[in-house]
Amino acid sequence: MKDRQNIILIGFMGAGKSTVGKRLATVLHWKFVDTDSIVEEIAGMTISNIFCRYGESRFRFEEYLAVKKVCTGKNCIISTGGGTVMNPENFKLLKQSGLIIYLYASLEDVLQRVGSSDRPLLKRGPEEVLSLWQSRLDTYAQAHYIVDTTNKGVEEVVKEILKLLREGVR
Ligand code: S3P
Repeated sequence: MKDRQNIILIGFMGAGKSTVGKRLATVLHWKFVDTDSIVEEIAGMTISNIFCRYGESRFRFEEYLAVKKVCTGKNCIISTGGGTVMNPENFKLLKQSGLIIYLYASLEDVLQRVGSSDRPLLKRGPEEVLSLWQSRLDTYAQAHYIVDTTNKGVEEVVKEILKLLREGVR
């Protein structure tokens, strides 16, 4: 962890980035930050409303600004939105600012976990969600570490991350 200041969680919607991130922050006594929450705070409206009123491209721009902001921090657990690292510039900034951990969740798990959510991209129907999920796998896999969350609760995922941190980084 020497010169890497932050721990960044990436992965598809419903992978548990925020829940795991909050717990990890508590255990490590680090600060928890969430790019989606920063976007909502700055815009003064929910992500769903940003998509609705101004479209996805506006959200992506606000998300980029949120990434730039969180990357200036130290000792933060950063939870990102599912699409954040699909912008190469975001991925580059985040990689420079810390250790990237990909929380892998199968499509089945994702659909189960986010069943009744109002996430705009999940309203597009099962085929589009499947293709979105598939199209992101290669990018997510460029993380420093991959943690498979299948059949694991929050505590178990956190434990695994702590083990990775103890054993050193590549
Ligand atoms: C998105 C994921 C959401 C949020 C926005 C777009 C995506 O975050 O950023 O709805 O592109 O996958 P979560 O992954 O926290 O749900």
